[in-house]
Amino acid sequence: MLEWTLSVYVMLFDFSKLAKIFNFGGLTSDEGGVVGVDIGSSSIKVVQLKRVGGGAVLETYGELQLGPYANVEIGRATNLDPARLSEALVDIVREASVSSKKIALGISYSASFLAVITLPVADEAQLASMVPIEARKYVPVPINEVTIDWFVIPDTRGETGAAKGTTLRILLAAIHNEALGKYRTVAKNAALSAGFTEIEVFSTIRSSVLEEDGIVVLLDLGAATTKLYVVDGGIVQRTHSITAGSQDMTLALSQALQLSVADAEELKRQVGLSEAGNDPRIKQSLNFTLERILAESRRVVGAYEIATKVKVSKVILTGGGALLKGLLATAKTYFERDVVLADPFSKVEYPAFLEDTLKEAGPSFAVAIGVALRRLNEE
Ligand SMILES: Nc1ncnc2c1ncn2[C@@H]1O[C@H](COP(=O)(O)OP(=O)(O)OP(=O)(O)O)[C@@H](O)[C@H]1O
Ligand SMILES: [Mg+2]
Repeated sequence: MLEWTLSVYVMLFDFSKLAKIFNFGGLTSDEGGVVGVDIGSSSIKVVQLKRVGGGAVLETYGELQLGPYANVEIGRATNLDPARLSEALVDIVREASVSSKKIALGISYSASFLAVITLPVADEAQLASMVPIEARKYVPVPINEVTIDWFVIPDTRGETGAAKGTTLRILLAAIHNEALGKYRTVAKNAALSAGFTEIEVFSTIRSSVLEEDGIVVLLDLGAATTKLYVVDGGIVQRTHSITAGSQDMTLALSQALQLSVADAEELKRQVGLSEAGNDPRIKQSLNFTLERILAESRRVVGAYEIATKVKVSKVILTGGGALLKGLLATAKTYFERDVVLADPFSKVEYPAFLEDTLKEAGPSFAVAIGVALRRLNEE
């Protein structure tokens, strides 16, 4: 059972072991395709879509674990330089038979800064001069080190003075220039044309929130961190980062059962929180991190509801950490409301036989699909 993780170091580039790949038997087209790329800390995800009629059709997708490129175990967060990242991107593009050069990149939430601010203006024309000045108060690094962007939040709930024409609520987004430069270099080195970059929050919302969803919470369980976004009317209202992720579950498991990290990772993925016939210490060790993440999330959601007097209707789980077996049941007991796994592939068309596979893999690809959908719309 533990064979493949152990052999990964020997067969670094045996992609059947390292990468999860699907493509339509080399049927990716040369024209019209666009590629969403999510360079996460533990793995790169790519999704190629094509417009057919009015819909977006899935052409290929793949995920490549980055651990071996940084000499660490699969499932752990890495911090690779642009040269190594480009190498990995070239590898997954080849292995997944990505044929289009037109890519769009999701940018890590940790490289960005988001805030909802209220400005005492009614006239949007004033914003171009006001927002950059105002941003200095909110962005915790020198303003010349970031690229800022913003948009006006429609005042659908009449919470601010916008309805009376006295204030505007603005969603302010800032990205570290260094991170932007790094992502662009990675794309360029891989001979791909990065159309645009987008903070992963927005990509996740596009792929995983449905129009009929009211106020929802997205919980992105990554390798080293968990990201929480409160979304209302498709617009992010509050963000929060928790410094615990799925790799911490693996480390706890490795300690408790005296297993290598690679073996613990394998065990986590295969057994998860399921109890029947398994060593109870497995569930206990995984729960140690999980409960910390869920308790902190519940606190943030509760505080948001009290402050805004609204009710979050649903929690949507994304990220590779959301694939943990039994997670949904545990999360439901914490949030005491509807909790679902993200199903981002539901926004694209694919052959029926892939239904189960894509439902299962979906949460991992929320960012890549979301950013690809935007690129497709901009073509
Ligand atoms: N089937 C599974 N069961 C449990 N955990 C899993 C499973 N598959 C992957 N994971 C875990 O998910 C984590 C990776 O999630 P994800 O791919 O969302 O992270 P990332 O995007 O690379 O990181 P980040 O978003 O923090 O930069 C890893 O720690 C991995 O162990
Ligand atoms: Mg991620």
